[in-house]
Amino acid sequence: MSKPLTGKVALVTGGSRGLGAATVRLLAEQGADVAFTYVSSEKQAQAVVDEVRGKGANAVAFRSDQADTSQAPALIDDVVAHFGGLDILVNNAAISVAGTVDDPDADTAALDRMHATNYLGVIAVIRAAARVLRTGGRIITVSSGLGSRVGTPGLADYSATKSGIERYTMGVARDLGPRDITANVVEAGLMDGGMEPPDPETLKVLLGSLSLQRMGHPDEIAAAIAFLASPAASYVTGAVLDAHGGYNA
Ligand SMILES: NC(=O)c1ccc[n+]([C@@H]2O[C@H](COP(=O)([O-])OP(=O)(O)OC[C@H]3O[C@@H](n4cnc5c(N)ncnc54)[C@H](OP(=O)(O)O)[C@@H]3O)[C@@H](O)[C@H]2O)c1
Repeated sequence: MSKPLTGKVALVTGGSRGLGAATVRLLAEQGADVAFTYVSSEKQAQAVVDEVRGKGANAVAFRSDQADTSQAPALIDDVVAHFGGLDILVNNAAISVAGTVDDPDADTAALDRMHATNYLGVIAVIRAAARVLRTGGRIITVSSGLGSRVGTPGLADYSATKSGIERYTMGVARDLGPRDITANVVEAGLMDGGMEPPDPETLKVLLGSLSLQRMGHPDEIAAAIAFLASPAASYVTGAVLDAHGGYNA
């Protein structure tokens, strides 16, 4: 495989599992030094680090709770201290909490934690990273097909977090463009091996609404992220790349 990211430093939030882990592996295979975060899966994070290092690439994991916005500046400082700079930020970490807005038993604390993790936490990491991203830098925000179309009941809060970070990322593209830093969104779709899928009935409706009528594999979404991180995407900014099997087609 060619190594278009040689000499680049990447930070992937939520790299211990699922899409984040697939992205860490791919960016490292393409030559980047890759830092990533996790919040509770220390063993899985270490396994990803060991796997990447076993292939002769560089990876390091930092525990950093994205729901606590005060942790973001220290995270970025740790990445810069470890690898000497930052070129690529992949905002991947998120959680999913479902529930209809009129559910009297809704776990509002869990919903609020999701808003903190998926929205305010992403903004805090972007703000901290923007201080240090080098010329030619890349910001890639992982959203969902649900960031542009809700589609089924019970997803108002999750969808709102994704829609919010999509619009924020567009603003980032405007703010950082003069520094030759791009900011783009990847709308991911339902994935095998990622976060808990919705209940079987909702899953059936969602899969039925896709052009490809199947779940994606994390590697298929990671490939879209790697493209936006690459030198080939130098004139792509403020864009949304749909990698969700045709949810909007
Ligand atoms: N899976 C899907 O079907 C699907 C569909 C569309 C979009 N997406 C989006 O794709 C991205 C990845 O999803 P996934 O399915 O790969 O998720 P996942 O398998 O559940 O992994 C989530 C990752 O985020 C980390 N994380 C969660 N809360 C965190 C926090 N407070 N602080 C720091 N890290 C935290 C987790 O760390 P720990 O391991 O330590 O918990 C883990 O590494 C998300 O943005 C998601 O919204 C997923």
